[in-house]
Amino acid sequence: MLTTIDIENFRCIRAAHLELDPQATGIVGENGSGKTSLLESIYFLAHGRSFRANQREKLLPPQADFLRVVGRVRTARGELVAGIEYSRQGTRANLAGQGISGIAEIAEILPVQVIDPGVHRLIEEGSARRRRLLDWGVFHVKHEFLGVWRRYQRALQQRNAVLRSAGDEQSLAAWERELSAAGQRVDTLRGEYAAQLLPHFVEVADQLLGAQGARFTYRRGWAADQDLAAQLVESRPRDQRLRTTTVGAHRADVSFFFEGAPARDRVSRGQQKLLAAAFILGQLAFQAAQGAPPACLMLDDPAAELDVDNLGKLLAAVAKIPAQLVITSVHERGLEGVKLGRKFHVKQGNFL
Ligand SMILES: Nc1ncnc2c1ncn2[C@@H]1O[C@H](COP(=O)(O)OP(=O)(O)OP(=O)(O)O)[C@@H](O)[C@H]1O
Ligand SMILES: [Mg+2]
Repeated sequence: MLTTIDIENFRCIRAAHLELDPQATGIVGENGSGKTSLLESIYFLAHGRSFRANQREKLLPPQADFLRVVGRVRTARGELVAGIEYSRQGTRANLAGQGISGIAEIAEILPVQVIDPGVHRLIEEGSARRRRLLDWGVFHVKHEFLGVWRRYQRALQQRNAVLRSAGDEQSLAAWERELSAAGQRVDTLRGEYAAQLLPHFVEVADQLLGAQGARFTYRRGWAADQDLAAQLVESRPRDQRLRTTTVGAHRADVSFFFEGAPARDRVSRGQQKLLAAAFILGQLAFQAAQGAPPACLMLDDPAAELDVDNLGKLLAAVAKIPAQLVITSVHERGLEGVKLGRKFHVKQGNFL
């Protein structure tokens, strides 16, 4: 649980200190006041990236040469201070006063997810978002995942480097053994996770969309009936031509179905949002069922995005999940129906 957050130079937020409620914190402010920026800064601390900008440089205000987000996190080990700093020299993170490489240690104690106006892109856009979200869940439930995933990434980079430099088959084969071993393990962990997640997703999706049979399937990134090592050998000519590895765990995906048909071609924008929200909430419900501490769930202006009926369903589904809520709205009435322990009004990046 996140008890306080300190922000410096994050978009329009020059300096802010907020104490968050353990249950629910509301943020009210006009368009452009800094609501999403606040959620983005919390997400940045927990993920090392933004959910709406690909380049970190875009987060820096003009003239600022660094940004910093520091949070106090209540954990089973007591209260820990986690910080992340970005400047054009790079990103640095620390936990409990120690510099750390990467942010996995922060991510581990601070599970953060967001349902924002762009959440439908999970269904609509390419596989990268779906893979990232799936992997976030696997990471939180299966402790072995991070290590094998890193092994896989390293082997993939090496094989791709050989392909780019038009190296011979022997050099490819050297990396394929490691790539295939790590890839099979990544797949096993993702596959187990997806199977365990499915009933939680279905339960939330039924609440949000009516019992209309929303489902997802996990695809591993290479032919279902084949060994990855054999597939890599088979795809060498194509990979050499394209200079990149075209099969493997980095091509895994999740497909959503609604009433038996692929959701992407079938459902409305509003329904895409609900399906995506169900995937996120299903993950949080699964984590809670595994005994994980409550996540921090951020809802960015849900009232503006959904009709009254669907907003009610979303808030009811959210209320069933043990999570620390941070919820934004342009109007006070957008927060009606949520029991807030604390509320801030934001103007030009200042929270009062
Ligand atoms: N790098 C940056 N430096 C300074 N200001 C920025 C930067 N990026 C965005 N802004 C400004 O930050 C302000 C707040 O944006 P934000 O998206 O947080 O507002 P919001 O309260 O969520 O608004 P809305 O209700 O429209 O979603 C905007 O006016 C935007 O122009
Ligand atoms: Mg916003």
